[in-house]
Amino acid sequence: MGAGFRAPYGYGGGMTEAFDPAKDAAARAAAEFVEPGMRLGFGSGTTLWCFLDHLAARVRAGLEVAGVPASEATAQRARNLGIPLLRLDQVERLDLTIDGADEIDPRKDMIKGGGAALVREKIVAAAATEMVVMVGENKLVEVLGRSFRLPVEVLEFGWRQAARRIETLGCSTELRCGSDGEALRTDNGNRILDCAFDDGIHAPRELERELNAIPGVLDNGLFVGMAGRVLVGSPAGTVREIS
Ligand code: A5P
Repeated sequence: MGAGFRAPYGYGGGMTEAFDPAKDAAARAAAEFVEPGMRLGFGSGTTLWCFLDHLAARVRAGLEVAGVPASEATAQRARNLGIPLLRLDQVERLDLTIDGADEIDPRKDMIKGGGAALVREKIVAAAATEMVVMVGENKLVEVLGRSFRLPVEVLEFGWRQAARRIETLGCSTELRCGSDGEALRTDNGNRILDCAFDDGIHAPRELERELNAIPGVLDNGLFVGMAGRVLVGSPAGTVREIS
């Protein structure tokens, strides 16, 4: 992995779930946005799972909601917590999708995909009236991509060809491996390339389109113009909202 970049989950032996007051505070606040009868999108990642814990407490108290999970891991957790699930094909629209982020800039553009769920997360977010994002202060950046590599999901077939084309856009790429050292496979059966833009990403909307025009690329972790309300948790457990 390139020096200076934070590692995605695949490198560290899985997602760490030590209690994090900043994530927990943002997740608790997000759970308060949920209203009876809502159809929700559930993203993926440790902050989202914290949100599920808070939502489950409300469900146990009688709140009726159902959600569409963006990853198998999220689906498993929601099931274990007794939160009703739906398939995306069973709903026309979602009221809210709730998710975390790996980086978010002052325009609320984001890098996601540290947990390799970016393709489904973007599909679920696109189906929702609003995307509510929960982050700790440590995810706020001035310029995307300087401290976290951009994940790109590619088909296994011909992935080296896709990687070479991606590199012409000004980055280096690395095939993501799981904690077993083998190439990581997403829930969709594909590969992830982590792309290092050493000077950061200065035109995310254009880059998102250019990447997705490369044959073999399914989608990339740039979420541009998608975030609605953003809840930022602090280590002291306070939360501020950016609208
Ligand atoms: C999953 O693929 C990601 O997009 C996550 O939403 C993102 O990596 C944030 O994860 P944490 O909530 O674990 O920081």
